[in-house]
Amino acid sequence: MTSQATAADGNKVGEYARKRYSGFFQRLVDRREQTLLKRLLAERFGGHIPHVVDIPCGYGRFHDLLKGFDCRITSLDSNPHMVARTRDTTQRSDGDRTARADVLEPLPAAAEDADVAFCVRLMQHIHDGDNRSLALRNLRGTGRPVLVSYYDRACIHAWTKRLASRLSGKPIRIRMISRRQFEGEAARAGLRVRRRRRLMPFIHAQSFALLEPVAADAR
Ligand SMILES: C[S@@+](CC[C@H](N)C(=O)[O-])C[C@H]1O[C@@H](n2cnc3c(N)ncnc32)[C@H](O)[C@@H]1O
Repeated sequence: MTSQATAADGNKVGEYARKRYSGFFQRLVDRREQTLLKRLLAERFGGHIPHVVDIPCGYGRFHDLLKGFDCRITSLDSNPHMVARTRDTTQRSDGDRTARADVLEPLPAAAEDADVAFCVRLMQHIHDGDNRSLALRNLRGTGRPVLVSYYDRACIHAWTKRLASRLSGKPIRIRMISRRQFEGEAARAGLRVRRRRRLMPFIHAQSFALLEPVAADAR
């Protein structure tokens, strides 16, 4: 990759970071996601989490929320420009780390002792159930809780996507699954649902689950 291409890709990430949640509805979505995720973490961990692994970190959207738990953060993403954006634009403390990583592979050593894996807006992009299970297993590592989002198909959002796909003949690019399917994939990864919240029940597919490891080595 040339340095020009790198700068161009970096600029695209900057533009994405500025625009992605700038519209009225998206601002609402972002605010509600931040509120729900903060609540789920606080209910499980109280006010302090020593170490969080945030994968995919994207442009660092949840960095400030996580910092509110007085933690060190390992920020990982498969896109190096996202990693660079997070590293360069978020307020960092000693012990925070950034690296490129693929959730379909074991997480890097820097994430090994993380107390929770935080994974928002990735599962709907993984179309194969075995791969979603593999991702959950990697997030769980040797036995940590996982706070994850996925798209649940029991809602208007899913019906409209299906209708639009049928009318246009174009496939749906994101994967929406049933609650039972999600729980089965989590179980195969050695995780069970402790809490579940929907972004906008029956309207939006975005759902959050706090998963706990079932094995004896759970933290
Ligand atoms: C929709 S963004 C979500 C980022 C962030 N969690 C948020 O909600 O703002 C999806 C991110 O997943 C990253 N990604 C895609 N496939 C991945 C993989 N296999 N492993 C790690 N990151 C991946 C992309 O580079 C992108 O930054």
